[in-house]
Amino acid sequence: MPQKGFSLAAICALTISALPLPSAAQRPPQAKGDPREAVALSPAQAEELLSGMRTYLETIQGIVAVMAENDVSRVPEIAARSGAKLLQDADPATGLKVPIGFSMISFDTHDKFDRLAEKARRGTSRAEVLNSLRDILGNCISCHATYRLAP
Ligand code: HEC
Repeated sequence: MPQKGFSLAAICALTISALPLPSAAQRPPQAKGDPREAVALSPAQAEELLSGMRTYLETIQGIVAVMAENDVSRVPEIAARSGAKLLQDADPATGLKVPIGFSMISFDTHDKFDRLAEKARRGTSRAEVLNSLRDILGNCISCHATYRLAP
């Protein structure tokens, strides 16, 4: 029955087009079933958070790069890029929307970068810088294992 086949196809097409589209700035729908706690931010706040994350990653890469060249003297300037000053321009409303545990790991991570910068400014060993990196990366992993952005 071609008539019936056509109307079924039409209903399917209508149903598919009526499904909500995922928001461009946040997580795709495969996050369904993800056991991590979802943090709901506006698209602008989410973009600001993710941009800060990319700065974190660049900072880690920068520190590893100067460690490979055995040049601890360049660590302070690089580490400070992810210190508390990264929060200066952040939307203060974001802090009110995230869980307290999230804020605590976030502040502690910025603080660890500032303390690494300070330690390297006073002069420290490569092994000490690696110890700090290990602790900082522990924070990255623990926050990522606990929280995600809401779809
Ligand atoms: C306080 C919590 C928290 C900490 C600490 C944290 N992250 Fe993230 N990060 C997140 C969340 C939430 C996302 C979004 C992930 C998701 O929704 O699956 C994210 C995403 C990212 C992304 C993806 C960015 C993009 O453009 O999509 C990178 C890269 C990243 N983090 C790097 C890091 C690094 C490196 C560190 C440690 C120096 C770190 N993060 C520490 C919470 C955190």
